[in-house]
Amino acid sequence: MKEISVRVFRFDPSCDTTPHFQNYLVRVNEGARVLHVMHAIHEDHDPSLSYRHCCGSGQCGSCAVRVNGQPVLACMEEARDEMTIEPLELPIRKDLIVDMEPYLDRISSLVPGAEFRMPTLDEVDAMKPLRSCIECLACVSSCPALKVIDFAGPAAMREDMRLTLDPRDTCDRITEAVSEGLFTCTSCQACWKVCPKNIEIPGKAIEKLRALANKKGLTLPRHQAVEKLVRETGRSVDRLGTTFLEQVPEVLEPYGEVKGTVGFFVGCMYNMRLTQTALDAMEVLRRNGIRIIIPREQVCCGSPLIRTGQIEFLDTLKSRNINAFAFRAIDTVMTMCAGCGSTLKNDYRTPFRVMDINEVLLRFDIEPPARLPIKATYHDPCHLLRGQGIRTPPRELISKVVDLVEMPSICCGSGGGVRSGVPDEAAALAENRRKEIEKTGADIVISSCPFCEFHIREHTDRPVKNVTTVLLEGYREKDRKNAHMETC
Ligand code: SF4
Ligand code: SF4
Ligand code: FES
Repeated sequence: MKEISVRVFRFDPSCDTTPHFQNYLVRVNEGARVLHVMHAIHEDHDPSLSYRHCCGSGQCGSCAVRVNGQPVLACMEEARDEMTIEPLELPIRKDLIVDMEPYLDRISSLVPGAEFRMPTLDEVDAMKPLRSCIECLACVSSCPALKVIDFAGPAAMREDMRLTLDPRDTCDRITEAVSEGLFTCTSCQACWKVCPKNIEIPGKAIEKLRALANKKGLTLPRHQAVEKLVRETGRSVDRLGTTFLEQVPEVLEPYGEVKGTVGFFVGCMYNMRLTQTALDAMEVLRRNGIRIIIPREQVCCGSPLIRTGQIEFLDTLKSRNINAFAFRAIDTVMTMCAGCGSTLKNDYRTPFRVMDINEVLLRFDIEPPARLPIKATYHDPCHLLRGQGIRTPPRELISKVVDLVEMPSICCGSGGGVRSGVPDEAAALAENRRKEIEKTGADIVISSCPFCEFHIREHTDRPVKNVTTVLLEGYREKDRKNAHMETC
């Protein structure tokens, strides 16, 4: 047996005006699950604690709660000392019990027709990745979109796609999904990462439904305009001035000894909009001995098309990009845009390794910059944190220059075609981001994705900078101090 301390959310609407947290010291067996802790509190401390459970083995989905902010199944999650147990982020009925009905009601049911046909083996295989849902609503709890706009949610989108693949169902689930908010998903992947059944809802349901919606002519006009631009120019954003690719030679040599070489996949936003940020990054790489090869013929990675279901032109983009780097025998391609990096890593099959710039800089053990007397907070880009699993590297780099104060990792609203297609939703999500930034009291916001940087900049009064720009500022401060010492 061991004794652990837990903090539990309590709220009884029949007598409480506001929720509060209650601390308990609980004795449980080694390896106990969160559900065992809830049972122990109920039996030994307070029989009024309300929570749901049934199977106790991860099959029924009734016990989902948040532990330290993360949705989990209480019966599967190991109990840890000093954990906080809260209900899912859904309307609360009492203590850890939430009102699931409004969200479960929006999950469609199969409607069989008069002519009944059983699915073939291939059709069963196609449905497999989507059918293990236990309706725990962990995904719904973590979805940023449905907190700000009417959206049936990830569990409902998953079932719409499953029913689309099922020949027994007779309804038009694609049109239904569009009317239920298919285009409000930001592709943040939060639903997939918390799903206890590991159902890849963004890629296997939402993007697939969007591609089918495209075939029915239901793609949003603003998304169609982006696709047209990519077809005509190879880029997903308009030209405003001189591009990054027009400002740099094909090979940028480092200032000192060559420690390594990378190819640079620039991406549309750093090429056309945030060119100075990309130039800052080149300075940091060159200072650290990294040779950069920048093929001119590279084009958009295709992420804006994949996320919005417009995939006809995708293979052309992929082969152009792969050939651009493979032709030069580059073995490591560096991305700086979180969306491009996630796309190259997850949606391409490349003959080269793809690394995010944060990974590249840490691998080369960079020169320490001077410290700057400012406090910064870091915004995790969804396509870096969840799309590439990169959490620590940017934090390590930032901490070399400034004091870092954390804030919750929430979507800023710029991804999945939402900024262009559903701007009101994008603004509402950015407002949530702004409030969290405010709470930190940070002087600046740092991120590592041009879409996030661009979008957050429009919604906060703090400067928003890239990790590499802050590193460069640290190097400039170091140079200034060294020059000052030499003149003294
Ligand atoms: S990817 Fe993000 S926005 Fe889309 S359904 Fe999942 S949680 Fe919601
Ligand atoms: S998709 Fe996953 S997280 Fe969502 S309700 Fe089903 S099992 Fe739970
Ligand atoms: S009690 Fe059934 S999934 Fe946890």
